[in-house]
Amino acid sequence: MVAVAGATKYEDPRLAAIYDLLNPASADTEFYLSLAESQVASSILDIGCGTGLLACALARRGHLVTGVDPASAMLDVARRRPGGELVRWLRGDASQLSAAQADLAIMTGHVAQVITDDESWNATLAAAQRALRPGGRLAFESRNPNTRPWTKWTPQQSRRTVTDPVYGTVEVWYRLIEVDGERVRFESHARFQTSGDDVVSTNELRFRTQPALTRSLLYAGFSVEHIFGGWDRQPVGARSSELIFIASRGGLGPPPFVHPSPRSRHRAAAS
Ligand SMILES: C[S@@+](CC[C@H](N)C(=O)[O-])C[C@H]1O[C@@H](n2cnc3c(N)ncnc32)[C@H](O)[C@@H]1O
Repeated sequence: MVAVAGATKYEDPRLAAIYDLLNPASADTEFYLSLAESQVASSILDIGCGTGLLACALARRGHLVTGVDPASAMLDVARRRPGGELVRWLRGDASQLSAAQADLAIMTGHVAQVITDDESWNATLAAAQRALRPGGRLAFESRNPNTRPWTKWTPQQSRRTVTDPVYGTVEVWYRLIEVDGERVRFESHARFQTSGDDVVSTNELRFRTQPALTRSLLYAGFSVEHIFGGWDRQPVGARSSELIFIASRGGLGPPPFVHPSPRSRHRAAAS
């Protein structure tokens, strides 16, 4: 068994290599692509861009994209994918972003939940605010704590197998460790059948509530325009799996928001 500290989970090249197999393009990808198109966002900041699936898709559609992420293993995957040469990649957190006058900032794949402490979360929102033009938008999602998705993060319910061209067959599963208020800790296992390695990382995710996320946005100087409960842009309900926020930076006021057409696929892994 090989243990990977929680903070370096995204730094392990083996785990970075299989990330897209576990988290392929899905309804969330379509949602953010449509949002960028409907907003006529020419410049986009992807905070916590990871392996760059969305950043590269946006760049291939003609948007000017900057992707920032602290994990070099994830960025290495991102640079190599089609369209990687079109994106400006920065290693680090949102503090790396300058006053960019960007149209849109996104945090996808539940990055908001990976940033667990309040100080870093508030600093991330403040940096996004500074990097946007007046009226520019920030969009991100966080899992809805009311649906308690962690109850399914058991080895039995989460086990699945993926096959990577380099690393071969990998069996992946989660094991819940504890729920401590808004903080959920769990192990994620990746057993690489070729090498026999069982790579275990300990993860913590923060399940902020809708009011807490709203307050943090207002505190950072954003106006909350929309909170959706799912990728079809439905309102938040008791069974909504996601809290999807679209907020605008104060200033000159945003251009009108155009609702793109709804899509239906879902992305459910504990990424
Ligand atoms: C679950 S992945 C999401 C990646 C990608 N956005 C997606 O949609 O698949 C979370 C990413 O957040 C990054 N991350 C961790 N802490 C961060 C921080 N403080 N600021 C920005 N990104 C961070 C990790 O390195 C990792 O690549």
